[in-house]
Amino acid sequence: MTTQNTMAVGGEPAFWARLPRPIVGLAPMDGVGDHPFRHIQKKYGDPDLVYTEFTNVEALCHGDMQSLLNLLYDESQRPIIAQIYGRTPALFRQIAILLCELGFDGIDLNMGCPSKSVANGGCGAGLIRTPDLAQTLIRETRAGVEAWRNGATLADCRDLSPRIAVHALAWRERLPAAYQARRPIPVSVKTRIGYESPAVEAWIPRLLEMAPAAITLHGRTLRQAYRGQADWEAIGRAAELAHTTDTLLLGNGDVASLADARWRADTYGVDGVLIGRASWGNPFVFRDDDDGENTNPAATEETAELRRAQRAQIALEHAQFYEQTLGRFPRYYFLPMRKHLGWYIKDVFHARQLRARLMQSESAEEVAALLFP
Ligand SMILES: Cc1cc2nc3c(=O)[nH]c(=O)nc-3n(C[C@H](O)[C@H](O)[C@H](O)COP(=O)(O)O)c2cc1C
Repeated sequence: MTTQNTMAVGGEPAFWARLPRPIVGLAPMDGVGDHPFRHIQKKYGDPDLVYTEFTNVEALCHGDMQSLLNLLYDESQRPIIAQIYGRTPALFRQIAILLCELGFDGIDLNMGCPSKSVANGGCGAGLIRTPDLAQTLIRETRAGVEAWRNGATLADCRDLSPRIAVHALAWRERLPAAYQARRPIPVSVKTRIGYESPAVEAWIPRLLEMAPAAITLHGRTLRQAYRGQADWEAIGRAAELAHTTDTLLLGNGDVASLADARWRADTYGVDGVLIGRASWGNPFVFRDDDDGENTNPAATEETAELRRAQRAQIALEHAQFYEQTLGRFPRYYFLPMRKHLGWYIKDVFHARQLRARLMQSESAEEVAALLFP
């Protein structure tokens, strides 16, 4: 690996080069992948890397505190990549400086979100239709990282709300010294195989021209959203294109377990995979001894029972950590925690009543009383 993106100053390789192969990471998930979720996934599953929820550059610049909260993380989550989206090049440059100041290990540009509110405005997967703009956003982000490395500070981010800047300065002061040091951080992209129909051969080379450190490819088109099956043949074709360059290619979509991740990496020639939905309520998905959601016939009822008990314990720990970290922010309250509770107990038999009560819980104390009466 010798690209600008994967080598840091002094020949110290950036984190991508140090990750095991195949890389198995936790996919970015808006409304799911917040700070407490990532903390729990790292603690019990230890994915090779994690991403923040996608965060809008325009909203951050305008001082939206919820966007800043999306980016919260702790040291246990490294390497952690901040994922951003938007369509205003000058803001990508400034937000890159902000993210360097906040100590992230990498910046990922979302070019895959299919939601109408994002893609119709030309952001997320909308960028597949405007490859020139997509290239500009990568260039500007990298220019921001480079400017930071050469001494730029938040004072150089003229569009950044002072409110965000004040919090960022306090955040930076609490970072370990190594992460306050000015170093180049890699820029990567997460996208889909096409807009209306698969267009890997036209789209991926446009991204590769910009030499991102990595491209993660979700094997569905924008039109498909989350329907049908991910097209891993198309991901395999993209991996072939990437292998003529220094850019890593990660596949994504429908990966159910670590064994499945390794099989897909082998079969389709990708450098790694990201796992999204299979991690819900199940950080063990990243572990060798996971029984694949209890579908492995070799898993005895005894191990399944043990896993259920562990998950209940983790559910409570997650709720407690949630309360300590995000619970004090009014807009967060306990509501976003509830869906996780439902996922943790999804394979508990006869749990309908328990689930209904967890879905109305308002504190970790209530969760404890319900799970461990
Ligand atoms: C609730 C939800 C939120 C998501 N949010 C993001 C996001 O913020 N950024 C992103 O790049 N992809 C996002 N995705 C897409 C996932 O990262 C992933 O590409 C997709 O779920 C397919 O992987 P999976 O089958 O392993 O879940 C989201 C998916 C879901 C289901």
